[in-house]
Amino acid sequence: MVVKVWDALVRISHWTLVACVAAAWFTRQQLHEWVGYAALSIVALRIVWGFIGSRYARFGQFIRSPSRTLAYARAVAAQREPRYLGHNPLGGWMIAALLAAVALAGGTGWLATTDRYWGVAWVEELHEACADALLTLVALHLAGVVVSSVRHRENLVRAMLTGRKPAPRSGDVFE
Ligand code: HEM
Ligand code: HEM
Repeated sequence: MVVKVWDALVRISHWTLVACVAAAWFTRQQLHEWVGYAALSIVALRIVWGFIGSRYARFGQFIRSPSRTLAYARAVAAQREPRYLGHNPLGGWMIAALLAAVALAGGTGWLATTDRYWGVAWVEELHEACADALLTLVALHLAGVVVSSVRHRENLVRAMLTGRKPAPRSGDVFE
């Protein structure tokens, strides 16, 4: 049995964001600025959706307390963490970090184009540092997706495409 977990906005915004960030990496000048602004718009939309979206799209559902996140991290280290139907606690914080990193990369990129900061070295360096930090987070994000998929024998990438996941079994967390 499978259940619907990720709504259409979560899925479409995820893959569009991936495309925009990838495009920002490989382009410069006008196209770069355009896809960077597109990425910023998707982040803004996703943040709004985090408050009004469907159950598993809401920040209140997947941003867990630090103590619970730490307990989950310990369980992962001991290889006895439960499966989460929505985002797991580490994944939840990673999502917050990814959204923040895209916002910072886009924000500093915009800053570098303003009359005041155009050509100012530290602004360009800050923008590059944000982009590098984002790349590091994406690498960790992918590692988390792979580890989680293997540990719980489910294809999380497919779930992000179809929105559907295997129904919760005993011991799984779905609240
Ligand atoms: C620029 C690169 C990426 C960014 C900024 C990014 C960002 C995000 C965000 C914000 C979410 C949360 C989804 C939501 O609730 O709206 C997410 C989840 C997810 N992403 Fe990515 N992502 C990136 C690349 C990828 C790639 C390349 C893949 C796979 C090939 C991937 C697979 C997933 C999966 C499977 C989830 C769901 C994780 C779970 O089940 O908890 N992501 N990503
Ligand atoms: C997801 C968002 C973004 C990412 C990942 C990103 C990434 C990058 C990277 C890797 C560089 C190259 C730095 C170097 O030369 O080593 C760069 C340069 C630059 N970016 Fe962005 N960027 C983003 C958004 C933006 C936005 C929204 C703007 C402006 C509207 C912008 C404006 C610039 C400018 C002016 C430069 C330096 C000049 C140039 O090489 O054309 N970026 N960005």
